[in-house]
Amino acid sequence: MTTNYTSTAPINLPVAHDQTNPTQSAWTTADAADLYRVEAWSQGYFQISNRGTVLACPAENQQIDLAEVVAGLRERGLHPPVLLRFTDILSDRLNKIARAFRDEMNDQHYKGDYRPVYPIKVNQQHHVVEELSRVGSKLGFGLEVGSKPELLAVMAMSSPDPHQLIICNGFKDSRYIEAIILASKLGRTIVPVVENAGELRQVIRHADNYDIRPTIGVRVKLFTPGEGRWKDSAGFRSKFGLFVSELLDMVGTLKEHDMLDCLKLLHCHAGSQIQNIRKVKDVIAELCHVYAELRRLGVGIEMLDIGGGLGVDYTGEQASDAGSMNYTLEEYAADVVYRIKSICDAEEVNHPTIVTECGRAMVAYSSVLIADVLGSTGPSRFRDPPPTDPIKEADDTPQPLLDLVTALESVDADDLVASFHDAQQARDEAASLFSLGHMTLDQRATAERLFWATCHKVRDVRDTLEEPIESLASLDELLSDVCFCNLSIFQSLPDAWAIDQIFPIMPIQRLDEEPDRHVILADVTCDSDGKLDAFLSPDGVRRTLRIHTVQPNEDYDIAFFLVGAYQETLGDLHNLFGDTHAVHVTTENGHWSIDDVVKGDTASEVLGYLQYDPERLLSTMNRDCERAVRAKRLTVAETRTLMRFYQSGLSGSTYLEPATDDQPGPHA
Ligand SMILES: Cc1ncc(COP(=O)(O)O)c(C=O)c1O
Repeated sequence: MTTNYTSTAPINLPVAHDQTNPTQSAWTTADAADLYRVEAWSQGYFQISNRGTVLACPAENQQIDLAEVVAGLRERGLHPPVLLRFTDILSDRLNKIARAFRDEMNDQHYKGDYRPVYPIKVNQQHHVVEELSRVGSKLGFGLEVGSKPELLAVMAMSSPDPHQLIICNGFKDSRYIEAIILASKLGRTIVPVVENAGELRQVIRHADNYDIRPTIGVRVKLFTPGEGRWKDSAGFRSKFGLFVSELLDMVGTLKEHDMLDCLKLLHCHAGSQIQNIRKVKDVIAELCHVYAELRRLGVGIEMLDIGGGLGVDYTGEQASDAGSMNYTLEEYAADVVYRIKSICDAEEVNHPTIVTECGRAMVAYSSVLIADVLGSTGPSRFRDPPPTDPIKEADDTPQPLLDLVTALESVDADDLVASFHDAQQARDEAASLFSLGHMTLDQRATAERLFWATCHKVRDVRDTLEEPIESLASLDELLSDVCFCNLSIFQSLPDAWAIDQIFPIMPIQRLDEEPDRHVILADVTCDSDGKLDAFLSPDGVRRTLRIHTVQPNEDYDIAFFLVGAYQETLGDLHNLFGDTHAVHVTTENGHWSIDDVVKGDTASEVLGYLQYDPERLLSTMNRDCERAVRAKRLTVAETRTLMRFYQSGLSGSTYLEPATDDQPGPHA
């Protein structure tokens, strides 16, 4: 579905980080930017407006207010969770990557060309690949595929411009290779990258059959190991590629078939999210020496494909940690060009065309997931203690309850830690006493409320002290609430669950007010793993996120940033939560507009993926309703209500939906 929603207000809102809200404390939007470390991770693509909302800033003088976009979508009946894809950020990333390499090549007098390709597995959504192809083809970007279905997707999409590379990595069967060979007759530069000796035989056979001189690539297993989470993508134990001795056999075979000039591309991939620039340099040095040796053997290699791996600094720490990287795009480009040039010059071989397959760095920034907050649970509701006099005066008050009252009343700045420890011990003793049958449920509830009230009081006093007390740092986590968000982590942020990937997360509104709550986030799946408890903060990664107290029926939305790479198609249907809505936001003449709306999965579609037939489900429900009416268990009016619910449930979103006139929403 394509719709044009347009902003009503000009989008060039001034960004001010120095304004205080006179009705609040001294909190400013600059404090919010510090709290969520916006400058560190956003690469300038996101900022906070003086209205306390988040702005997407695809380019200079282009600012799109996320809160305004989401409100506009709500007005039009499109409710979160929704994925916002910023086409102009994608385009800017491609430009920056291309420019970084071209500038370096000019500065260093590099004589070869630069041909980046986008590996579509990073985000195969049709709209993303199409947009990438449209913008990227002008900049010389090609596409990389890793499977037969991926090839089918790009074959009909990419232009027959012979300069637009299509690189085919991964396991290939004979039909896959035949399709590649034939597709080259359409005028495409399509390169099968040989991953094993069997593939080479098929390439030679099909090329011979169709009388084609193919452009062949080969992946080599380097000795240099990879690094980080995907370190096994490189090194001699890696899954793909030929050992050096197999590479020499391949050269011999090609020579026998008079095809040495067909081997045009040498490939390696050192793993995704390379965190340390040294790894890039080491891998390229080895690859470049293999290239030089092959050239000397008379092989026609013209392209050096260094694979993907350019990192994204999710945490903004600029460190060689898993969620970060210790280099910039410009440093990466400079080092790649310098290494290749200096080795080629020393070995007296031509500067090859440099091919990169850096997918994550192209698309991560351009997608933001927005989810609404549904409600929360946790100890913040127990801030006020119960009246203590009746507890002290009763004859049968168990000792742990009296101890809890003492701990509460003795909280002061001089003895904070001791009060906290006393409360913990008394709470544990109360729980044991209850289990032994010596305490009533009512007394146990009082013990619970006394304990939480003491913790709140200790934290309040702690926050007034100048010196931090290390042993009370865990209080924020202890007192944090669980805040429920309308999303599935398994569907929309699978890497947060599978590999503890940290994503920048923050509210998109009220950032001119100081957040007053510490929360962890939980999704709407029925799975205790469906939660997030690692967030960026000025003191590094913390277990809680600071947000505001959400008023009943308030639309309060949280944004999950840098989710454009790998999250969308790796997501699964846990608890049958499907794809969220996705919208494409662009800017023109100072206004934002929504060019495309891709509706999320309906329950009926998701059930269909798992071979349920929604029509049959409906007729079974109809039949059971009729039987219930005959048996007088349901009235006809009741069956109508039930069937209305069932039918609208099937055609509706898999996520929780807002209130309607006849149905209270999840916020109620
Ligand atoms: C062969 C190959 N090329 C490119 C990539 C993309 O890597 P990245 O998205 O980290 O740039 C991958 C992903 O692991 C890959 O396996």
